[in-house]
Amino acid sequence: MAEVAKAVARSSWSGKWAFILAAAASAVGLGNMWRFPYLAAKYGGGMFLCTYLVLVFTFGVSMLILEISIGRKTGQSAITAFKALAKKWAPLGILVSSIPFIITPYYCIIGGWVMKYAASYVSGGALDLANAEFFGAFITSPVESFIWMFLFMGVTIAVVAMGVKGGIEKANLVMMPALILMAVAVAVYTMTLDGALEGVLYYIKPDFSKFSPELVIGALGQMFYSLSLAMGIMITYGSYLKKKEDIVQSACRVGAFDFGVSFLAGLMIVPASFVALGGADAVASKAGPGLMFGTLPGLFADFGSAAGIIGAVFFILVLFAALTSSISLTETLVSIVVDTTGRSRKASLVIVAVFLFVAGAFINMGYNLLAFIEPLGPGTSLLDFADFLSNSVFMPIAALLTCIFVGWILGPNLVIDEVKTSGNFKAAKPWTIMIKFIAPVLVVIILVAYVAATFGFFSM
Ligand code: PHE
Repeated sequence: MAEVAKAVARSSWSGKWAFILAAAASAVGLGNMWRFPYLAAKYGGGMFLCTYLVLVFTFGVSMLILEISIGRKTGQSAITAFKALAKKWAPLGILVSSIPFIITPYYCIIGGWVMKYAASYVSGGALDLANAEFFGAFITSPVESFIWMFLFMGVTIAVVAMGVKGGIEKANLVMMPALILMAVAVAVYTMTLDGALEGVLYYIKPDFSKFSPELVIGALGQMFYSLSLAMGIMITYGSYLKKKEDIVQSACRVGAFDFGVSFLAGLMIVPASFVALGGADAVASKAGPGLMFGTLPGLFADFGSAAGIIGAVFFILVLFAALTSSISLTETLVSIVVDTTGRSRKASLVIVAVFLFVAGAFINMGYNLLAFIEPLGPGTSLLDFADFLSNSVFMPIAALLTCIFVGWILGPNLVIDEVKTSGNFKAAKPWTIMIKFIAPVLVVIILVAYVAATFGFFSM
């Protein structure tokens, strides 16, 4: 009875589009803006783009369907959803739920960097940002970097405090369309730069000789992170979804939205990086935070009086993408605390806020006070470690166990029946094959490859 009462008392989305927008807002984030373009540049442009597209609409959408269905069926967030389906599998709920606790604090640190850049462009600091030393000096600063992290967290928490309908839906409704408009504007601008065309062609024309196992592994890992899979997010969001909404259609739309924004981000950044650096190899070798926080500000500075405007628009759009994701991560944390402690939303949010401030401050100290800790070898930080742990270890293990649990223990019919309560599921057969056989193999490949690459047994 208590379980039923809890499910009834949950918030819900005001409609289908609110759900799609929220799931897309969670998916569209720093992963699309910063990571996707550099991976595309690194792994052969068009070939990477095509592989990624295929993966999103086969594997990615299948996983989305699975997670949304579990959430809607149980009406609970990940931590109790698995237990509600089978008592013995309760630990899987804990594993899945622990992942956003690791990601959110460091995601907010990077969000703070983006906020600092956006604010600096707006206040006319385009040239300072173009200085090669700027980024390193800022992230290692013992006071300033903390301030921006706390500010970013503050905005995120304020939106979550306003609730699902009053805060999250409204914030998404403003930020998502604004983000897309700004991305189109910047992409059009950068594509018209001298020498950008070569970059555009490289980015969209598949060159089959570039196909490699590393490309597939890179695309697989990116897909998981970008679609916010295996972290309990889509389970939580599915639990707010009304019984009449079509799950397959929603999952496809979320996948399409996320892919679309990644594609646009690539169009903004890959050609611009070609202009700045002069070729694919140079762009690939500048991969990582450097591309967004170093190369682009350097390039913008060449635009003369337009530098401030382009820089401001670019970083504000990245900031929106980061905020909508951090909001969804924080909402997931709150719903986990509500479901486990039975406390009110408000009290749970206070607990989450304190946790974020403390954990974020600790990870950020990895760049200054605790810089002597190099968890993954020379030059690595606590943030790298948190990222490795969540995305390369916990996430694939959680995804593997989820596929085994649903595909083999509960049986695929559980999901198929849930999907069919609100629409037809023509692809039920291929979906079953994907979840039972293909997905587990692909996930094991991600796990082995990422761990091996981190410890230097394999180069990616
Ligand atoms: N998908 C988001 C991105 O692309 C990141 C994210 C991961 C958000 C996990 C929520 C949960 O940046």
